[in-house]
Amino acid sequence: MKNISPHLKSILLFVFILFITPQSLLMQNKTGVNVIPKPTNITVKDGFYSLSESVKIYCENDPDINKTALLLRDKLKTSTGYDIEIISSAEPKDNGINLFLDESLNDLGKEGYRLKSTQSKIDLTAFTSTGLSRGIQTIRQLFPAEIESDEAVDNIKWEIPAVEIIDKPQFEWRGMLLDCCRHFMEPDFVKRYIDLLAYHKMNTLHWHLTEDQGWRIEIKKYPKLTEIGAFRTYENDSVYGGFYTQEQIRDIVKYAEERHIRIVPEIELPGHAVAALAAYPELSCTGGPFEVATTWGVFKDVYCAGKDSTFEFLQNVFDEVIELFPGPFIHIGGDEVPKDRWKECPDCQARIKNEGLKDENELQTYFIQRIQKYLEDHGRRIIGWDEILEGGIPKGAMVQSWRGVEGAIEAAHKKHYAIVSPTSHAYFNYDIGTIDLRKVYSFNPVPEILEDKFKMFILGGECNMWTEHAPQPTIDSKMFPRILAMSEALWTSEPDSDYNEFLNRVRNHYDKLKIQGVDFGPEAKPVSIIPAFDSNKNSFFVKLEAGEEDIDIYYATGGHEPDENSNKYSEPFEVDNTTVVKAKGYKLGAPYGDSVERELLLHKGAGKKVTLANQFSSHYNGGGENGLCNGILGGINFRDGWWQGFQFYDLDAVIDLEKHGQVKRIAVTCNQNMHSWIFMPQWVEFFISADGENWESVGKVINDISPRETEAVIKEFSVENLNAEARYIKVFAKNIETCPDWHPGAGGKAWIFADEIIIE
Ligand code: ACM
Ligand code: ZN
Repeated sequence: MKNISPHLKSILLFVFILFITPQSLLMQNKTGVNVIPKPTNITVKDGFYSLSESVKIYCENDPDINKTALLLRDKLKTSTGYDIEIISSAEPKDNGINLFLDESLNDLGKEGYRLKSTQSKIDLTAFTSTGLSRGIQTIRQLFPAEIESDEAVDNIKWEIPAVEIIDKPQFEWRGMLLDCCRHFMEPDFVKRYIDLLAYHKMNTLHWHLTEDQGWRIEIKKYPKLTEIGAFRTYENDSVYGGFYTQEQIRDIVKYAEERHIRIVPEIELPGHAVAALAAYPELSCTGGPFEVATTWGVFKDVYCAGKDSTFEFLQNVFDEVIELFPGPFIHIGGDEVPKDRWKECPDCQARIKNEGLKDENELQTYFIQRIQKYLEDHGRRIIGWDEILEGGIPKGAMVQSWRGVEGAIEAAHKKHYAIVSPTSHAYFNYDIGTIDLRKVYSFNPVPEILEDKFKMFILGGECNMWTEHAPQPTIDSKMFPRILAMSEALWTSEPDSDYNEFLNRVRNHYDKLKIQGVDFGPEAKPVSIIPAFDSNKNSFFVKLEAGEEDIDIYYATGGHEPDENSNKYSEPFEVDNTTVVKAKGYKLGAPYGDSVERELLLHKGAGKKVTLANQFSSHYNGGGENGLCNGILGGINFRDGWWQGFQFYDLDAVIDLEKHGQVKRIAVTCNQNMHSWIFMPQWVEFFISADGENWESVGKVINDISPRETEAVIKEFSVENLNAEARYIKVFAKNIETCPDWHPGAGGKAWIFADEIIIE
């Protein structure tokens, strides 16, 4: 209030007080109503419900409801220090927190609830005890964040706004996959995630328990599964591993049950089984020996489908799994099964012949069907990854669609239920630059093109936490905040949802996560480097962009690591040489996320026109039209936006240098990522021309990178020491066209990825 006299100030203050209405107070309260996932229907009323020292929880005399009441009581008691009593009662009471079933709420289904808080009491009602269990999470979130403290906190007004909430989920399957095989997660950590899932009204923990790199579930009949299969030994003799005893599993299952979280154990077959084969090599086609895998990828050694002893083994394993997990669903994997061994195994070939199967794909179906029949006879339903659709899906099986949503569409068309967790939105092991919070928030498990009459087959979705590159301490930062978006996409799923409104709630929610010790990560890639080549100036124009508004960016060129003493970014800058730009975000003075970098290469072809015989994919457009000559190199992550992808077709590019001149060197850089069907070209041939019509070959380079290489690789194909004159350059890179027959995507269309054609 600069330039206003003190007298006028007091008049204004008086007017301000005069006109401050309950309505404006209400606005303040409204911003305090900050529940994730957002309730379907919420009305904020005047006033608050205040927790008093003498408060009691009244609930029906039902063991299940009593457990829910206990969870709420413990939560409130720990942080407030109040000695809260639970009292069995036939009816709700004033001044209390009431948890009661109400048959008239059957419209709200199994998980819906109604919550009414007034100055005098809290009434939580639901059609089922599961609904009450979801409702207490809303009560928790309506209190100040300190309610989550694991020790008593003083000087807090323990109140929640008066509200009326009627809430129920849009999708009945809201899950998270936790891969405890690539990295082992301690039992307490698994319980902690069950709590965090419950807090956000997710209802399923898909527990990935067996893999090539580790068998994690104790099976009494086969002790070597954990003695041998649970530990991997690296070249330097270090050993990594761990497993869950049956006692620990029972404890975790009970813990989940109390929180109304379904656990779906995944016992992978017929592939991803090297750890089991290391323990019992006789279950393989070749007899082994094998070692528990120490690298990531897809392995050729799988369970033998020809030997009856394999099925006997698996049935015995499932007998114990069924004992441990009383829930109706068992995930049997079924993804990424190379058929190499089966093709050469006399037992497998005999099975194909005797069962009248067409090929190894049908043998896979036979395998799954036989296991499914066993599990069905024991009252269980199977779920498998979308590969189980190939060769005919067994009746009654549920499909988890991960390679896009096509698996879900096909399953629904065949009247099978589907869970949707596509790599595009639901793979939380992917970096935040690839799948950020906004992207997850836009997730809808129902594929857009699915006809209405099949939509009922889409049960919901899952977010998948694969842990090849994620040991336990890193899980929080990958799961959070993205799981908040997933929980809302699956619970609330409003077609006209407002991301900014959600983001606002996320930011208010952080205090509640912090107090629970959640080490959440960024909402988006903290910093993006967005260079563009300017042909007129023959230099780069570099823009840096923060993923969130309160991030400061510092940057350095020449490959130096930036810190707070580096250049602080304020506006786009020019770079007129070949260099590596690195940038790093800072939030509230502290580093925020890892630094990012982009390599810029000033060469003769930069900014020149590229003509392609075959169009690049719109999903991988690598800088667009002249992207192969923009001077901007991609990184090892083929999704970073600077790679151009050509599926099935060859890369066939002509560059017009605009004038005739000396050419000393031509190169093209390619990326291989076998797991994503991206391979090096078979060969690259380089041509020059004076007129763009008559071409002279100046060299052909044969690829020497194995297509089986499991790690991502970048390779430069080049011809050096040319002493040529040319105006036009042609680069032809030969696509292998289809994934090799040993590959999980055998026969599928293979990709070439290139980021730059370099001319010097
Ligand atoms: C998967 O990601 N292989 C299911
Ligand atoms: Zn075999």
